[in-house]
Amino acid sequence: MEIKIFNNEKEIGEAAGSFYVDYINANPACVLGFATGASPVPTYEYIAESYKQGKVSLKNISTFNLDEYCDLPKDHKNSYFTFMCENLFSKTDINMDNVDFLDGNADPDEESARYAEAIKAKGGIDIQLLGIGRNGHIAFNEPGEEFTDEAWKVTLTQSTIDANSIYFDDVPMPHYALTMGIGSIMRSKKIIMIATGSSKAQAVRDMIKGPVTPMCPASILQQHPDVTVYLDTAAAALL
Ligand code: F6R
Repeated sequence: MEIKIFNNEKEIGEAAGSFYVDYINANPACVLGFATGASPVPTYEYIAESYKQGKVSLKNISTFNLDEYCDLPKDHKNSYFTFMCENLFSKTDINMDNVDFLDGNADPDEESARYAEAIKAKGGIDIQLLGIGRNGHIAFNEPGEEFTDEAWKVTLTQSTIDANSIYFDDVPMPHYALTMGIGSIMRSKKIIMIATGSSKAQAVRDMIKGPVTPMCPASILQQHPDVTVYLDTAAAALL
């Protein structure tokens, strides 16, 4: 793993964002796996601003996202699809025909098979962007007994519900989600992980220095050949 430490999340956004802009310019039809949550927002802002300034075009890229809540309409203001539209897609020239998302209201087994096939049909994911949960989750793969493979329906843990329920003001936060599995993430050719803030410090330490165990799902990244971790000083404090 390559570890990069920055002073703050703005610097991370500039570094990771400029990496993406260069990568997309060199590989205009690349396949990118995106994440939601607070961690990637400065990176998305950087990419959107670069588009605005004419420095990059997203019109030929294809994208997949890590996860989506169950029991929430796709266009609800708290869906992850809406999050991506607001934070990146609507601010660029991305072709929405090339945007694929897990459907949290579909049959989980059929949707998992569809997503795996769709990723395969695009030749796999070139770069998967990840955040990390306070409990070490990646996507919504919560700590558990075993590493998962393809997309599946997860029961969210209390830690995740506590962290994310602040965003829900009109409906209760869903307790289930469809998430890409650990196997799907590990098959990405390159992985970029972003973690900021002291609440992530222990999970970051367990991911990098702890044993590889499904009790810290992010620890599996130690076995991936091409991972770059972008941390601020607070998230790196226990390394
Ligand atoms: C989001 C996702 C989650 C988040 C993680 C960190 O698509 O899969 O694993 O990356 O919960 O969330 P933030 O960035 O909000 O701290």
